[in-house]
Amino acid sequence: MRIIRSAAELAGYQSEIGEFPGGVLVPTMGALHTGHEALIRQAAAEARQRGLAASCVVTVFVNPTQFDEKHDFDRYPRVLDEDADKCEAAGASVVIAPSVEMVYPDGLDAPGPSLPDVVVDKGLEDQYRPGHFVGVAKVLVRLFDLARPAAAVFGEKDWQQFQLARALVAQEGLGIGIVPGPTVRDADGLAMSSRNRFLSGEQRRAAAAIPRALRSASHAKTAGEAEAAMRETLAGLDIEYATVRRAETLERVEAGTRAGAEPLRALVTCRLGQTRLLDNAAWPLAADSPLLDL
Ligand code: PAF
Repeated sequence: MRIIRSAAELAGYQSEIGEFPGGVLVPTMGALHTGHEALIRQAAAEARQRGLAASCVVTVFVNPTQFDEKHDFDRYPRVLDEDADKCEAAGASVVIAPSVEMVYPDGLDAPGPSLPDVVVDKGLEDQYRPGHFVGVAKVLVRLFDLARPAAAVFGEKDWQQFQLARALVAQEGLGIGIVPGPTVRDADGLAMSSRNRFLSGEQRRAAAAIPRALRSASHAKTAGEAEAAMRETLAGLDIEYATVRRAETLERVEAGTRAGAEPLRALVTCRLGQTRLLDNAAWPLAADSPLLDL
């Protein structure tokens, strides 16, 4: 597996792959866990299926422009050697770990792409992490430019980000396929996240209510009932949102919207101490959802 850290190494790689398409990209900020490893295996399989010469390319870059809280950026784990081992074991062929200057040659404040509707005035991550998606949109177009992928895999756990990637690629005419990666869960249903490591034992036990909330919503007949069921299951936790939205646009729906009327998504975010945990699932749950086994 090749590890690219310098501008010269990257230029060499880019001239070898030539113009688009390169491989299948998994953009990450490192501190990789089982969930990322699943995305890397999926990307490698996707590259084989597409018959691409380059296979799975992982970027590891802690993006300073997307952190709305400085302490979150400062404490974000930086463990490139461990990450590279995990990438190799999961089947990546290239890891690009660029410097800030390689990603942002014109500086951190250089303007990025305009924001697609899916991250504007939705009262979701866009509201609770002001400025976050400006930074994500900025870094995605840069990472796409560095890695030149044919497709990119985005974890469904960050559903609004996944929809942003789709909308951005369409808006900018990039011709990159955006592939969803299913959420990987612990035995009690908690979605894998690099931030789970910050939870105390007690917070970790309490966090299991989040996947259970998505499960409890599945019995509801209307979106309003689903939201009430989620809030009941999450009682005692600091809820930021627990809501049902149009799956692709994340627009709000009427409380009386019936299950199955159109593709809908239940989304939950809670704060446990300084750690925010996000989760979401199709509403109602798909017949093969692992959440049904909780
Ligand atoms: O989901 C993440 O880890 C980041 O937001 C991403 C997509 C790598 C952009 O920095």
